[in-house]
Amino acid sequence: MNAPQTFPGLTFRQDYFDDPAGWKAIGDLLMTVFGVDIGPLDALGGHDRSNMPSAYFDAGGRCVANFAAFSMPLVIDGRKVRAAAWQSGAVLPDYRGRGLFRELIRITLERCEQAGFEAIVLYTDKPALYEPYGFVAFREQTFSGPAPLVAKTIASARRLSVGNPADLALLRETLACRAPVSNRIAVCGQSLMFLLNAYLVDDVTLSWLEAQQAVIAWRQPRAGNVELLDIVAAEIPTLDTILAGLGLAPKTVTVQFPPDRLGWEGTASAVEGDLVFMMRGPETLMPQGPFRLSPMAEF
Ligand SMILES: CC(C)(COP(=O)(O)OP(=O)(O)OC[C@H]1O[C@@H](n2cnc3c(N)ncnc32)[C@H](O)[C@@H]1OP(=O)(O)O)[C@@H](O)C(=O)NCCC(=O)NCCS
Repeated sequence: MNAPQTFPGLTFRQDYFDDPAGWKAIGDLLMTVFGVDIGPLDALGGHDRSNMPSAYFDAGGRCVANFAAFSMPLVIDGRKVRAAAWQSGAVLPDYRGRGLFRELIRITLERCEQAGFEAIVLYTDKPALYEPYGFVAFREQTFSGPAPLVAKTIASARRLSVGNPADLALLRETLACRAPVSNRIAVCGQSLMFLLNAYLVDDVTLSWLEAQQAVIAWRQPRAGNVELLDIVAAEIPTLDTILAGLGLAPKTVTVQFPPDRLGWEGTASAVEGDLVFMMRGPETLMPQGPFRLSPMAEF
């Protein structure tokens, strides 16, 4: 790697998440810049072991600028892609505009290239930051439509809580052998974001369908509508089986990932908000057609 640029009063550090002081420093930075609490990760066994953080620290041990990449294997249009996900790009307000982030992008890109990732994905509300590096922006889509007919609701589901050790063990076990929730785009082989998002995503319910050995992440944003956020299972059940198991008979369903494995079709519409999904990689790997990475995989 080309030597990191030096900045007065700052020290460059890499892979410092295992140092308790460094781990606290990144937690403080992310809380200050994004208002996001990564504290729940401690109960989940800490950070993703594939994480490659690069950062600048001040003399007092504060992390003033950080960027990280971790392994996020994906299926894109039926093909397994060895992808990296970029996250936690943040610079403290007093240190902005000095080129710290530009240098961290350069280093993180170099590390991903050395590690041999085929593609890099990220979420941002500032796509202009990444376009110069060959990232392409995609507006994600959700899929909505009338619910399928449910012959008989059985309501056999049991609620899971990530805070309960037995439930957490079951979640981990099921995540370890999950099938991609969609062939169009889905994670295959990254579990930690699902568990962290179980804390972070608003109003999400996790239900266990014993007969299908499936975890369903869902919520009910309004009467008559059910929103499906993710399914963790070795075999993806169809939507009518899921609704029957959850004991629900809604009028409409919104699926927050491509529903190609659900035996149901919905109409695609763009996700609202400033956040866009970006990808850097060969043209042949770019997703074709409307997609959304499950919100439980968002990073
Ligand atoms: C965005 C952020 C990381 C930039 O950090 P920084 O250290 O000030 O950035 P740099 O000085 O290294 O500038 C890097 C480049 O980004 C550009 N840039 C900086 N802030 C930008 C913004 N808000 N929107 C678009 N481009 C921006 C700079 O013009 C510069 O471009 P150049 O390389 O062509 O000269 C920082 O403002 C921040 O932490 N913001 C809040 C969190 C955030 O938005 N993170 C990124 C989300 S993915």
